[in-house]
Amino acid sequence: MSDVAKIIIDGQTYEYPIFTGTEGERGIDISTLRKDTGLITLDPGYVNTGSCTSEITFINGEEGILRYRGYPIEQIAEKSTFLEVAYLLIEGKLPTQDELDTFTHSIKSHTLLHEDIRLMFRAFPLRAHPMAMLSSVMGALSTFYPDTLDPYDPEQVKISMHRILAKMATIAAYSYKYSIGHPFIYPRNELSYAGNLLHMLFATPAETYEVDPVLERAIDVLLMLHADHEQNCSTSTMRLVGSSDANIYASVSAAVNALWGPLHGGANQAVIEMLYDIRDNYKGDGSKYLELAKDKSNNIRLMGFGHRVYKNYDPRARILKKMTKDVLEAVGGSSDILEIAMQLEEIALQDDYFVERKLYPNVDFYSGIIYKAMGIPVNMYTVFFSLGRMPGWLSQWAEHHANPKARIGRPRQIYVGANERDYVPIEKR
Ligand code: CMC
Repeated sequence: MSDVAKIIIDGQTYEYPIFTGTEGERGIDISTLRKDTGLITLDPGYVNTGSCTSEITFINGEEGILRYRGYPIEQIAEKSTFLEVAYLLIEGKLPTQDELDTFTHSIKSHTLLHEDIRLMFRAFPLRAHPMAMLSSVMGALSTFYPDTLDPYDPEQVKISMHRILAKMATIAAYSYKYSIGHPFIYPRNELSYAGNLLHMLFATPAETYEVDPVLERAIDVLLMLHADHEQNCSTSTMRLVGSSDANIYASVSAAVNALWGPLHGGANQAVIEMLYDIRDNYKGDGSKYLELAKDKSNNIRLMGFGHRVYKNYDPRARILKKMTKDVLEAVGGSSDILEIAMQLEEIALQDDYFVERKLYPNVDFYSGIIYKAMGIPVNMYTVFFSLGRMPGWLSQWAEHHANPKARIGRPRQIYVGANERDYVPIEKR
């Protein structure tokens, strides 16, 4: 195989090295293209553009493979815990018991929010979406820790990461409690990360709340499945904002906003809304909705289907599909929307439109059904995605800063607007 690519422009040949990753992926290194030729590449949506090399997550979209630091997602989901995965992604290796204990202790010692942050919530309208509260409060956190914002000081970065991981769960729970008019519930550090999250969401001062171990494990698995997914929209945002040396809280706040959109993390909320729509307005018949999703004259898409990278079943969706049935069994409920989702999946996977375009269920297709079965409100689904994705965002941000060759992210463009023209005074327009 050739290790060089040749580009001929105006009769002149230029050579560019082909870079090969550890799993055999190949890319043309065009970093000197503009200097050599005066030309840039045009790649809307960055469909063919590698923005970095990374040691964190490997995806083979054709075969439906996902690995964190080399470990298959199926093994992670079965054997690990969310905080262990966070350590793995951030530190690059599985922790020893001592390392995990120290890490866990550090995260737990940062779960409380400054009391003044509680006041911030009062400024939001009651119906504010929790993702808006999450990103705003996360951005504001930097003002409480002005002495630990240097992105090149490893100790400051470490403590900021631990703070963010810990406080994110508390902010998430507070944003929910605020939206339903309930008092905020303080964290309980003897609980696991997932158990504490459930406690802060569902406990009230009026009665004790027992964490259900089945739900606790399900939350932990959901968080692990979302923990990283290489250079997706929110992670690229995290890196891009960080590349200007903006502080880590500002970068996370931006990543939360990028995740919110329905084409990205917001899809889990959109899937449930779609399933309700099918139940209530299409008599539960997914095939009619499928026809709408294929029709290019509208903007309707089958939410929870398709992926930029996976051209096969998303391995996370496979794990979640199985877990959906387990959780429903545990909570003793049946789910009409699960029936609709399974019917929708079956017909879509046999439909020529979806087959030709290799559109399969993605991670968001089943996650909402699990959250719903657990009693988690719909507008919190994307918040849970953010909580899960946090170790990925943090580790990718740190990887960017650890790279001595990293530069500010700054894409180019090809201008297609008006040519030079003279300014026209307002009375003559
Ligand atoms: N329903 C109907 N048609 C679809 C869908 C869908 N869900 N997804 C893609 N297509 C069609 C699209 O119209 C296009 O058709 P054509 O070639 O005829 O123009 C073709 O498939 C390729 O789609 P694309 O929009 O060029 O693909 P993309 O890589 O730019 O977009 C995507 C990927 C995930 C945004 C898209 O598949 C989508 O909108 N899916 C629904 C939203 C969703 O579930 N998002 C969650 C993604 S997974 C979690 C995460 O990472 O956030």
